[in-house]
Amino acid sequence: MKIAVIGTGYIGLVGAAVFADWGNNVVGIDIDAEKVAKIQRGEMPIFEPGLSELVLKNVDAGRLSFTTSLKDGIHDAEVVFICVGTPQGDDGSADLSYVWAVAKEIGQALDSYKVIVTKSTVPVGTNERVKEIVLENLKQPVAFDVASNPEFLREGFSIDDMRNPDRTVVGFESPDSKAIDVIHRLYAHLESPLVECDLRSAEIIKYASNAFLATKISFINEIGQLCEKAGADVNIVAKGMGLDKRIGPKFLNPGLGYGGSCFPKDVSALYRVSTDQAYDFKLLRGVMEVNELQRDLFFKKVKSYFGEDLAGKTIACLGLAFKQNTDDVRESISIKFVRMLRGMGANVRVFDPEALDTAKKDLGDVAITYCESEYDAAKGADALCILTEWEQFKELDLDKIKTLLTEPVIFDGRNLLDMQRVQEAGFTYFAVGRKTNAMVEHNQNLTKKSYAVLRNGSH
Ligand code: UGA
Repeated sequence: MKIAVIGTGYIGLVGAAVFADWGNNVVGIDIDAEKVAKIQRGEMPIFEPGLSELVLKNVDAGRLSFTTSLKDGIHDAEVVFICVGTPQGDDGSADLSYVWAVAKEIGQALDSYKVIVTKSTVPVGTNERVKEIVLENLKQPVAFDVASNPEFLREGFSIDDMRNPDRTVVGFESPDSKAIDVIHRLYAHLESPLVECDLRSAEIIKYASNAFLATKISFINEIGQLCEKAGADVNIVAKGMGLDKRIGPKFLNPGLGYGGSCFPKDVSALYRVSTDQAYDFKLLRGVMEVNELQRDLFFKKVKSYFGEDLAGKTIACLGLAFKQNTDDVRESISIKFVRMLRGMGANVRVFDPEALDTAKKDLGDVAITYCESEYDAAKGADALCILTEWEQFKELDLDKIKTLLTEPVIFDGRNLLDMQRVQEAGFTYFAVGRKTNAMVEHNQNLTKKSYAVLRNGSH
């Protein structure tokens, strides 16, 4: 099948590479000539495990090419995917200007029947407007159909998610759309369910899925606040909840809140969609509020230890990416946290396994030292903060860290470390939603010990 993919960001580039790997002929299209040249050399604009290899393999096999010309790129294609960004606008809604611009250009260039599929995350009604814009801009009478095929790829795992999705959602204009056969051919080999529905339902499935996962995170973070006050341990509570198959263990990890280029913008956009439909989605307001508060409440722990003024203090910060396995710092809570520390007068020493370069563009050079390792960051610092959930931070050599810090204090914003190990190593330990030695001092409720034993089968 001949496919054009417009936009070579996360969704477009991964989509183009995987479609090509399935044996299709794919053209990736982007207006950024420098970016296109780099991709062709195997230099990916993003850090995504396995992506460079997959792109080069399919370029070499002659199934994947790139161009800056939308007209040339879509000429032979049977399916055209729109994968451009939909950033957050000033009023919280999705900014659809890139989608509209691409729809206009497709209309002007369309010269044979094609299925135009939107993969970008777009609010309800967008695909209908795409149809109108293409129609308005046609230079000649030519038939086409639109479809909505939202993606559910997680950064860091997107190739696997694209190859083995839990489900594929596709919205069509009507149950007898010609596009249905085309999409069936594209996804025929997938074993997971294909949810076929109308355009508007498909658009909402995407937002509802992200908003639900964000709700799960805010929920466990609030349970964590309650645990802290009541003297329980949120990690044990999340474990006990997650074993219920109706709840499931995923997205129940407490922390500093959700970040990234998707959840914050999508929850906000869904809220805007609801107000546009004259409905106040109260739960989503709470989800967003809790997410902001979560970071502030953790910051309070730093202030409770050092006082309001951090001038003269140096804080080591581990993790800048918005989550592990990515170099993406967009809407990263870790970056916001570093800014808060600097705002209170602290100097920061930062380390991230992948995101130092991207973070540098954001954080600049004032009162910040970019370090080569966790241990380099800890050198001479007055405390260590863990801000992103990189697996490798779990294995920190605590004795070594202790010799490097001026005071043995750890603020673990992701509950990543083994609490007993940290405390036995002689640290004052702050975490999220669990009673640690640092928190017991401040709250007598916490003197009773939480514990958990998980046994299998009959006991
Ligand atoms: C998210 C969704 O998981 C994907 O299904 C979706 O396709 C994508 O958005 C998108 O709309 O494009 P992603 O933004 O890559 O993917 O990141 P997630 O793995 O979902 O994590 C989002 C944030 O939640 C991160 O900041 C992470 O640290 C935080 N998180 C996640 C928690 O705080 N606790 C958890 O238990 C899980």
